[in-house]
Amino acid sequence: MKLDLTDMLFSLSEALDIVEHEMTGVQSAHGKHVAYLTALMGKGAGFKGEELSDFVCTAMLHDNAFTEYVREEYTSGDVVDVSELKKRADMLSTDDYLCFISGSKHSVAGEKNIQLIPFGTDIKNIILYHHENSDGTGVFKTTDKDTSLKSQIVHLADTVDVIWNILTLTEEEYAQMREKIAALSGIMFSPKSVELFLSHVSFEKLSKLKAGDPEALLKEEIETIEKNYTDSQIHDIALFFAKIVDCKSSFTRYHCVGAAEKADLLAKYYAFPEDKAIRFYLSAALHDIGKLVIQNDILEKRGKLNEKEFTNIKTHAEATKHILSKIKNFEDITAWASNHHEKLDGSGYPKGLKAEALTFEDRLMACIDIYQALTEPRPYKTPISHKKAIEMMRDMAKNNKIDEGIVNDMETVFA
Ligand SMILES: [Fe+2]
Ligand SMILES: [Fe+2]
Ligand SMILES: [Fe+2]
Repeated sequence: MKLDLTDMLFSLSEALDIVEHEMTGVQSAHGKHVAYLTALMGKGAGFKGEELSDFVCTAMLHDNAFTEYVREEYTSGDVVDVSELKKRADMLSTDDYLCFISGSKHSVAGEKNIQLIPFGTDIKNIILYHHENSDGTGVFKTTDKDTSLKSQIVHLADTVDVIWNILTLTEEEYAQMREKIAALSGIMFSPKSVELFLSHVSFEKLSKLKAGDPEALLKEEIETIEKNYTDSQIHDIALFFAKIVDCKSSFTRYHCVGAAEKADLLAKYYAFPEDKAIRFYLSAALHDIGKLVIQNDILEKRGKLNEKEFTNIKTHAEATKHILSKIKNFEDITAWASNHHEKLDGSGYPKGLKAEALTFEDRLMACIDIYQALTEPRPYKTPISHKKAIEMMRDMAKNNKIDEGIVNDMETVFA
């Protein structure tokens, strides 16, 4: 399948940035800010073409495992509060330096996850070592000789965006920032990364972020790479994002991965052509990506949702559409994914589409979502058996909510 991977990662990272902002209080668009700073320093270091694009995309996704580990790292005290970091940054002088122990778990898991993305150039250990200090006081106690320049650049870029508010930065603050960063050369940051920052990240360049469109800025700095990917590579990309969504809430740990597996089986059963089958798989893996922007206290509420909460949760289908529709050649994938809560009688959401407006694939995705939700384990309920799930779905079909023919087929395929 032909895919503009850069474009896809850009769109999906937006959702990730929103989660991280909500969960940790870091700046909004943190991933994109870090990516932009990385692009400036990376170019200064001589990286270009595909290598630069892969590097910048990896920087953008450096905290990809936050949905999985943020709570654990916070509760175990592994992560220092952002306000604390800011206080420490203000105290900085040449003798006293920062060492914020910040999350070994999300570094390890983030590194493992990113290996699923089929980049054409070497991005190894960039994420693993994005919290290492030059003097060996970081998460894994490595020094510059153990880490690559790429991970050193991401570490500096990350720290800058966590500590300084780039969006309100004045020229005077920028001058102080340069002093502090220079003072931390060889302590917190590698001398080479500091040199790159000082010579390639000007106040003018940083100020461009204030316009609030980091994606457009990034597109000016790097090439987008469009390539053909094998089915197994697309599976891996799908899995990367499905895992991120699933990990946001312990209540739906297997939902997107499970839905994608079911989509795969059904695509085979209906003998979808190869390209369509892989697109359908991708769509199932991404169908709930919009849930990244819904707060966990709503996603995880045990009792019945009140009207306001239900209205809020329903917005995830529209959010899925918003995120996916920005990706080139994703029209069918976007439609199948964002129509998964529509019902044949028009009582679904987000649009209240009726049977005649819903394609076979839309209906299929809706059934997959329901079957998966019923049969998967969740903390507050034991999974429903295949037989019982089909029974319940048959009732829904009788009430003109979902497609009866598909329910019958699922009975056979998933038996
Ligand atoms: Fe991090
Ligand atoms: Fe970060
Ligand atoms: Fe959903």
